[in-house]
Amino acid sequence: MNGSFFQRDRAWHPPAYTPGYKTSVLRSPRNALLSLPATLSEMTGPVFGHDAIGELDNDLIRNFARTGDAIGQRLVVHGRVLDENARPVPGALVEFWQANAGGRYRHKKESYLAAIDPNFGGCGRCITDGEGRYSFRTIKPGAYPWPNGVNDWRPAHIHFSIFGQAFAQRLITQMYFEGDPMIWQCPIVQTIPDRAAVEQLVAALDRNATIPMDSLAYRFDIVLRGRRSTMFENRREGN
Ligand SMILES: [Fe+2]
Repeated sequence: MNGSFFQRDRAWHPPAYTPGYKTSVLRSPRNALLSLPATLSEMTGPVFGHDAIGELDNDLIRNFARTGDAIGQRLVVHGRVLDENARPVPGALVEFWQANAGGRYRHKKESYLAAIDPNFGGCGRCITDGEGRYSFRTIKPGAYPWPNGVNDWRPAHIHFSIFGQAFAQRLITQMYFEGDPMIWQCPIVQTIPDRAAVEQLVAALDRNATIPMDSLAYRFDIVLRGRRSTMFENRREGN
């Protein structure tokens, strides 16, 4: 697996400085960026053991349950992790975290007045299979207000972190739900310059993956950076 990764497309990702999203003002770079060559560890790590994943790690309905299942609209969220050459990424660690059905996180700095669900922790993880597929069960998170403008609300969303086959492929992003009008009012979503890029973050209702009398389903495919050297179909990987 030699070869460098594609550069990030900075016209597709949001810029670092976006005053409508207030905290970006102080944490965005003040100086021009420097280009550094990739190091060996960035090109080869990380490696995960599958036995590190617990049986309930991909079930947010039950993985923190004490007296019963978490409250909320029961969901299956699934999809594939692909690279920019549309090839599946097997063995990727997919981590996810979210607010509960009322829009409240279980976090000591969380101050929103919505109630904590004692049966909902709000985080989990899984590893993609040989075709790059992942799947987990959860409840639909609620929208929540946040201190930015006078009255800004986050649309319902799930946070994702994906470790691909190298640290250079790490992606942290958020998933939204098809048909939610609050997506387009969100100051964080509005930092993304291209509407088509926003639509890639919106999971589609997937009737085929629903579980009758149990759960609705949403499908969310994730694309990581690809390697240049493997663009050539007539070259075997590693050559
Ligand atoms: Fe959030």
